[in-house]
Amino acid sequence: MKFRYLVVVALSLILAPLAAQAQDYRLAPDNIDEIISHMTLDEKTRIVVASKSASFKRYPELEATLRKEIDGVAGRSSAIPRLGIPSTIHSDGPAGLRIEDGHHDHLATAFPIASALAATWNEPLVQEIGRAIGEEFRDYGCDIYLGPAINIHRNPLCGRCFEYYSEDPVVSGRLGTATTLGVQSAGVGASLKHFAANSQETNRTTINEIVDERALREIYLKGFETVVKEADPWTVMASYNRLNGTFTQESRDLLTDILRGEWGYKGMVMSDWTLDLRNSAAMIHAGCDMFQPGSSKHMKALKAAIEDGTLSEEELGQSVRRVLEMVVKTPTFAQYKYTNHPDLRSHDDVNRRAASESLVLLKNDHNTLPMRDVHKVALFGSQSYSFLTRGTGSGHVFSDHEVSLTDGLKARGIEITDDLADVYKSHIDSLDLVFINPELGWILGIEQCPEIPISQRMISRQAEQADMAILTIGRQGGEGWDREIDGPKGFNLTELEQGLIEDICNAFHAVGKRVVVIINSGMVIETASWRDRPDGILLAWEPGCEAGNAVAEVLTGEVCPSGKLAETWARDIMDYPSSEWFPIGDGRCTVESPHKEGIWVGYRYFDSFGVPVSYPFGYGLSYTTFAYSHPRIERTSDGFKAYITVTNTGSVAGKEAVQLYSTAPDADPNAAVMPKPLHELKAFAKTALLQPGESETLQMSVTDYALSSYDETSHSWVAPKGRYSISFGASVEDIRARASYRMRTEFKL
Ligand code: BGC
Repeated sequence: MKFRYLVVVALSLILAPLAAQAQDYRLAPDNIDEIISHMTLDEKTRIVVASKSASFKRYPELEATLRKEIDGVAGRSSAIPRLGIPSTIHSDGPAGLRIEDGHHDHLATAFPIASALAATWNEPLVQEIGRAIGEEFRDYGCDIYLGPAINIHRNPLCGRCFEYYSEDPVVSGRLGTATTLGVQSAGVGASLKHFAANSQETNRTTINEIVDERALREIYLKGFETVVKEADPWTVMASYNRLNGTFTQESRDLLTDILRGEWGYKGMVMSDWTLDLRNSAAMIHAGCDMFQPGSSKHMKALKAAIEDGTLSEEELGQSVRRVLEMVVKTPTFAQYKYTNHPDLRSHDDVNRRAASESLVLLKNDHNTLPMRDVHKVALFGSQSYSFLTRGTGSGHVFSDHEVSLTDGLKARGIEITDDLADVYKSHIDSLDLVFINPELGWILGIEQCPEIPISQRMISRQAEQADMAILTIGRQGGEGWDREIDGPKGFNLTELEQGLIEDICNAFHAVGKRVVVIINSGMVIETASWRDRPDGILLAWEPGCEAGNAVAEVLTGEVCPSGKLAETWARDIMDYPSSEWFPIGDGRCTVESPHKEGIWVGYRYFDSFGVPVSYPFGYGLSYTTFAYSHPRIERTSDGFKAYITVTNTGSVAGKEAVQLYSTAPDADPNAAVMPKPLHELKAFAKTALLQPGESETLQMSVTDYALSSYDETSHSWVAPKGRYSISFGASVEDIRARASYRMRTEFKL
């Protein structure tokens, strides 16, 4: 009896601390250091190595904090059940939540792609989209949105331009901020990507992007700096490429000195989906805290590095801490009872508003649009019947519905000629347009539909029957490849497309009827050779699953177009200075990609050197007109506030996006030392819907820091004192009002 009693006492003495340990050491927001101190080396290496899928069955006690598999999510963090650390779920991005068909009877909302959202120039609207995306993530049980993607449109052939906002870092930074704030307001995190200078897709995991320090700071890093400082994304994604010789994922300069040291970032950095192609110890040392998707090879490599002293356990601990700081913020950690039924219908409205506001009216001769007395249209072009509404690759979104162009028009009482529609429909029915990655077997999206010739007889018949012709020209880019200059997905139009434009315009113009071309592309295409032929051109991007409604709203005048270009539409691909150093299917720039154009990206180049373009940065027509008046500058403690009054002087209600450009004192693009662009965007703002005759005064803030340029000799930001000319533009080529700001003393940082 006595012996049994002793055994019980002894056992309880041994087990009590273990029970306490199991109970006490469960991750909480305020015990992260304590948790780390109880982690084995194996656990520390596991936590920085993201798992590909979670094997929850082994941890029934954590079933509640973990979750079932969600098809199509890109990755997840590793769980350590004994310490109460759940696996968080990370999913693409950027145009909505990418989960896959199969497990959900209703999928997610496909929102307009980023280049379209940029054309709205509307920060609050983009923030609303971010919020809607965040709500869908949260309600499907996901924690991290892999976006926004804010790389610069250095060259329009880059296959992923559609996922990025603009050629300008202020637009990218401001809209990346709006998206991040919106997503994170729903309680999920954002992952700002791809940090940095991920300017091309060709050989993206090995390419060495060579960028001079000034261009890097002013063009390629500026947008990231803005989002980090103003929206504090929970995570940042380090890109695939090398930057000036070092992989960004192994670059301490970039991930620690600049991102954390200079910009004050406290969050976690994860790698882009690099597998085990990098040096694991170098990644941790650089400040890349999570390897996506990880493997046991990473864990072994980290342990070996600690054993041989090339990595310290403290450094690893720092990364572990940052991962856990992310984990405790997530809905998964909070055991959020996600519904699996986000209210998708409640997002249709903002989705449609953003889509129609992103459309850019490039040409509108004889007031062809909005359509008047048009009851029946002849819809030409395969893409008219298979509209590209979403991007491809990881940026594809499996949407729960899609409004076709024909349905959008029909809903507004516009008939379509059936005989022509039948020709296209049978062509499309004969094709399988599902776009599958041949190596991975996963669906990348819907393929651009090949164009077909239409006989002269059919075109003439359309010109008799229809009141107007619409021709949709489609172009698709995608992840992992860059576009070519020619060919069906190329920058230039094909002969077949050129022929269609010619024949349709001839036939319709001969009987006094109008032709409108819709450009259904996420990226710039060539327009100079054909834009004189049609009466109207509407750029519709890949506008999301409300596509048909948005396009029809603008065509019919239900919505007055207010989209403006956030990139320059050059006359010829070789006019972009970067084209000379961009891979164009000829083997060049497959190892190194020298950004020899430096800061002369987009309008900074075309505008400063007087190179004519098809459509300049900031350009977009409206159905109404606006006058700009009363430009005013008001000094603030760190810069100035600018005011401009915009009046709707036309006859329909509309919105106007105003761009604020600065010209530095003595700005000279040809100067040998510190050449400067003639105009640099520093801020922008958009009016509310103004009724005819109505005015609004817009306010924009600019700091002295924002006016500065990066001086490579002193490695600092410098703005000379003196008079800065401040221009208020409807586009970079259409300056409507000016003011000036005098900087009293030189700015230096
Ligand atoms: C892409 C990222 C994406 C990730 C996960 C990578 O290939 O570059 O943008 O978030 O895959 O799908």
